[in-house]
Amino acid sequence: MLSKERMPGHVAVIMDGNGRWAKEKGLPRLAGHNAGMKAMKKIVDHSDKLGIKYLTVYAFSTENWKRSMDEVSGIFKLLVTYVNSDLKGLIDNNVKVKILGDYSALPKDAIKSLEKTLTATADNTGLQFNIALNYGGRDELRKAVIAVGEKVKRGELAPEEITEEIIAEHLYTGSLGADVPDPELIIRTSGELRLSNFLLWQSAYSELVFPEVMWPDFTPEEYEKAIADYQSRERRFGGR
Ligand code: FPP
Repeated sequence: MLSKERMPGHVAVIMDGNGRWAKEKGLPRLAGHNAGMKAMKKIVDHSDKLGIKYLTVYAFSTENWKRSMDEVSGIFKLLVTYVNSDLKGLIDNNVKVKILGDYSALPKDAIKSLEKTLTATADNTGLQFNIALNYGGRDELRKAVIAVGEKVKRGELAPEEITEEIIAEHLYTGSLGADVPDPELIIRTSGELRLSNFLLWQSAYSELVFPEVMWPDFTPEEYEKAIADYQSRERRFGGR
């Protein structure tokens, strides 16, 4: 049984293994991403049911552009299908959607569908669902350094006045952006044990859980197992 009191406020997920899932079944990689999208929908619903306040998914990284054109455009098509077909459901469930990353580089139809979704869900007060798109932790830090550097250049801030809070504020997750607290729990499926440039600053004290299943097989039951693992741990934040 999960404890309501120890429910993580923010869960972040690296949805890994779509390609291997498809390969095992002799299917094209995009069939894996399609199954991954379905798994993601269930996890969004289940997060809401569990009373989790923030869910972040790593949908497309700054490195994913290196994949074949077919795969990249297929992922964006799935994204458009997802936001268009699920918009009503997201609104009905009071879900607020936010994007982490520079989505201006995405295809025009994807930008249009995303912006429609962001606007339509902006005033919702339930689960905040953050989709990391064209997101990279180093790129995010670089952009924050540039923004803070500009403030220093304009004389609004002295270098020694730069605090951790000021840096955090300028990240995609900061109060000037999606305004999300650091994740208590990060889940990466498929048995890979890496963060792969995901939430580098924000993961400083996150608990990491690595279920062996491929992302399309990550069911609400697997999700609850990962949360139970998190709840069994003692978090000390560098103290004793
Ligand atoms: C990682 O699996 C998955 C991705 C890079 C894409 C994630 C996309 C989805 C879950 C579906 C689409 C949803 C949205 C919101 C766009 P992989 O391809 O790296 O798997 P592999 O390591 O087995 O090859």
